[in-house]
Amino acid sequence: MHALTMSFANSSIIKDQLLVDIDRLIRLNLDSWPDRVFLMEEAKKITFELTVKQLLSFDPGEWSENLRKQYVLVIEGFFTIPLPLFSTTYRRAIKARRKVAEELSKIVSERREGYERGERKSDMLGALIGEWDEQFSNEEIVDFLVALLVAGYETTSTIMTLAVKFLTQTPLALAQLKEEHEEIRVKKSKSEALEWSDYKSMTFTQCVINETLRVANIISGVFRRTMTDVNIKGYTIPKDWKVFASFRAVHLDHDHFKDARTFNPWRWQNIPGTSCSGNFYTPFGGGPRLCPGYELARVEISIFLHHLATQFSPCEENADGGLMVLDRGMLINTGVAIICLSGIEGRGYEYFPQEN
Ligand code: HEM
Repeated sequence: MHALTMSFANSSIIKDQLLVDIDRLIRLNLDSWPDRVFLMEEAKKITFELTVKQLLSFDPGEWSENLRKQYVLVIEGFFTIPLPLFSTTYRRAIKARRKVAEELSKIVSERREGYERGERKSDMLGALIGEWDEQFSNEEIVDFLVALLVAGYETTSTIMTLAVKFLTQTPLALAQLKEEHEEIRVKKSKSEALEWSDYKSMTFTQCVINETLRVANIISGVFRRTMTDVNIKGYTIPKDWKVFASFRAVHLDHDHFKDARTFNPWRWQNIPGTSCSGNFYTPFGGGPRLCPGYELARVEISIFLHHLATQFSPCEENADGGLMVLDRGMLINTGVAIICLSGIEGRGYEYFPQEN
């Protein structure tokens, strides 16, 4: 799974194949936003559609939206006690998982038939069916697709949402980010697609993403098993022990990051007075299991921030609880506003039309 994901989510594939779809699908989504949307929901919709495109080459439509609805139920089941008799959520999740698997199985079977007739598609499913060294059964392929949908869906969309939350709470950073993206946009026509060189020039955006990942710690750590006795700072962890490597503990440690609990994207620009070291920064894990989707996630978040920053602009600060209100500068004259509530739990963000 690691190798296959890596081979479909590395820089050259993103640059040559995926970037154009990422840009197009994000733009389509933002353009279709109604007067009032929940940012977290929209971000999830975007990442789901991008993953479906990458895995199966399907453009968004009724099929992908129905699949996503079932998927949401499956994910809800992850956070319940697995007791079918007592938990409705768990029962519903199992049923939804079956439906998701049925839907994906149909697609896999159709593709396999097509492959046997000589039809080829250069997406992940195409590789799993034909070009990959190993032969997989339909069931294994469905498991793989389900796992990849989980891996990129919640993670990337949560970071998109949290980046907006932190930016709206840090107006200077929002202004700098906006400037960076407007500089890119000003050289292009309104509808012109972003290119790899544009992504590469988003240096402050990378600082914002780094800092969002560091503060948010959406994956708080990883488990590892010791293959041999390991000595660390005078302690011995015996062979075969399970160890939890806590990213959160390190990312929020003042010894490694000055004012570790403060969102400070400039620390990544080596501004004097801020400190951090790459050795202590592992939001995507590390070693042979390093997240194979790390570059894809960064590109998706960057392009999302690009379109958000160039289509919406801050206009006033709401006195009510320090909320930030933004209006949609370019696309809708009447404006659309964003409200950032205190957290992301329970749909913490709302966009709504501004009354002029
Ligand atoms: C902000 C977004 C993301 C974050 C923070 C994240 C983080 C992580 C972390 C911490 C791990 C465990 C690494 C380890 O054990 O050392 C992981 C594994 C993984 N991630 Fe991501 N990830 C993100 C997005 C994605 C995306 C978009 C994809 C799909 C293209 C993806 C696919 C995977 C896969 C397949 C694994 C399992 C790798 C293995 O066990 O060999 N991730 N991710």
